Amino acid sequence: MRIKIIGTGSAVPENIVTNQMLSEIMDTSDEWITTRTGIRQRRIAVTETTSGLASQAARKALEDSGCSPEEIDLIIVATFSPDRCMPNTACTVQAALGCKNAVAFDLNAACSGFLFALNTAQAYMAAGIYRTALLVGAEEISKTVDWKDRSTCVLFGDGAGAAVVQAREGTPMAFVQYSDGTKGEVLTCSEKALKNPWAEPAEDPRMLCMDGQEVFKFAVRKVPECIHEVARQAGISVSQIDWFLLHQANSRIIDSVAKHLGVSRERFPMNLDRYGNTSAASIPLLLDEVRREGRIREGDLVVLSGFGAGLTWGAALLEW
Ligand code: UT7
Repeated sequence: MRIKIIGTGSAVPENIVTNQMLSEIMDTSDEWITTRTGIRQRRIAVTETTSGLASQAARKALEDSGCSPEEIDLIIVATFSPDRCMPNTACTVQAALGCKNAVAFDLNAACSGFLFALNTAQAYMAAGIYRTALLVGAEEISKTVDWKDRSTCVLFGDGAGAAVVQAREGTPMAFVQYSDGTKGEVLTCSEKALKNPWAEPAEDPRMLCMDGQEVFKFAVRKVPECIHEVARQAGISVSQIDWFLLHQANSRIIDSVAKHLGVSRERFPMNLDRYGNTSAASIPLLLDEVRREGRIREGDLVVLSGFGAGLTWGAALLEW
């Protein structure tokens, strides 16, 4: 049993924040952000919510798939920035779309979240448990960054992407996924401090913190490794893969991965110039864009690869 993506959708906040706008409120410049990251603008929520963006993207993916809400039997929302701890975002999406037959839960693997959701759906389908899944990556990172920390806040954006996947007869897709909690401190985002009548009063901890250079080195080493691994699993060479859809964190990471793999940069679509790093939303946001532009054709081999906090990373190879 393998899975096929049969519909995609995306949703972003209306508010566009350019590098120039950031340089007016903090000590940064369009030149620094563009040359170091490739990012030119990002969407930052003003009225939108994580669950609202997730539901919008999911609704578009469902319409695109031609499935009825009742046909969805699994909903997974990948996010580290939900509106509420509970109910989970996936249940909110379920209610908004009327997917009354679905089981719905969230998954947090930071920027690898959508990829891990895809692999989870694949495993359920291979086991014959579910047949049609709605997978969403949705983030409002703007509420988790410290807007006084120029080394992180300029990098991220808000948004959501979604895909409907369905079980099909055939060989399973190739995928790998990894975690290394011992390196967790290089990218963290704290919740509130412990507060109860017995604990010492403490200040709320800092929000998103990143050792950018460590994450950079980790990404350029691990992404090529796991792409080679899925190619090996599938018995093909990397040069046979048509499209490489990578987590959109930094155009220099994408350049380096393309160079390591010896693959033309044109096969690495990119939209981080317009959306920044949207964590779990970045891969499905890109997937929706390239699909609607008609760039991916039936039968194309597509690799998705994510990396991020945890540390977590992985890749999945799909036939379109
Ligand atoms: O999705 C999760 C995965 N995350 C990532 O993949 C992020 C990976 N890392 C990166 O993309 C890069 O490391 C960054 C874009 C975060 C940083 O680029 P860098 O080339 O590693 O820069 P740096 O951290 O070494 O900083 C260089 C300089 C520093 O100044 P000094 O010490 O050389 O005087 C920083 O203070 O740039 C300064 N700087 C800035 N200057 C203007 C840092 N942030 C900014 C800024 N504007 N926004």
